Amino acid sequence: MDGDDVRMYGVLPFTTRMTVVQLESGGVWLHSPVRPTPARRRAVDQLGRVEHLVAPNKIHSLGIEPWKALYPSAKVWASPAFNERHSDIAVDAVLTNGVEAPWSGEIDHCVVDGHAVLDEVEFLHKPSRTLIITDFIQKHEVSSASWFWRGIKHMAGILGKDGGVALDIQFSVRDKTAMRRSVDTILGWEFDNLILAHGHCLQGGAKEDVSRAFDWITGA
Ligand SMILES: [Fe+2]
Repeated sequence: MDGDDVRMYGVLPFTTRMTVVQLESGGVWLHSPVRPTPARRRAVDQLGRVEHLVAPNKIHSLGIEPWKALYPSAKVWASPAFNERHSDIAVDAVLTNGVEAPWSGEIDHCVVDGHAVLDEVEFLHKPSRTLIITDFIQKHEVSSASWFWRGIKHMAGILGKDGGVALDIQFSVRDKTAMRRSVDTILGWEFDNLILAHGHCLQGGAKEDVSRAFDWITGA
């Protein structure tokens, strides 16, 4: 579900997307929730009751509290460093690699270790063989920005369907071995499809695309 456009660092235009999973229990799992407008809420309500709200990294906090206010019994799951940045947002459980969640049978998760800035948790929705990535891979729509920002995004390697891991993210790895281990785990998952929080998604062919996006760290 597409959300509002936001400005990264106050200037860089970004489109946003939330991923909505209908669990086998009938509950709904919201990843990187966008702001709940009445229309968005109606669409989500048609799938079931919101049971889980997921903040996949410390930056993506936008819709957590507004959805929690609408569904007070929903459980908030957050990335390892989320509360360091957002101490005012109540978190029910921190997503570390060992954590078992009620949705773990349907959705795998893996924290990407070893990065100096991003504490991102990636997810695999197993029934649909879909990988859900927040900021590590970005494929911004070409049409959504001015020529200036398109140029910046092109140089950063995140413009269009060939986008990948932004150069500033590649330059901010703290522990390459740890990060490679995490990436290897994710590439070992069985997926064909890709949902991104920013830009083009993929139906089919995602394994090759994601492998290519991470070849700078895997050496492949
Ligand atoms: Fe983001």
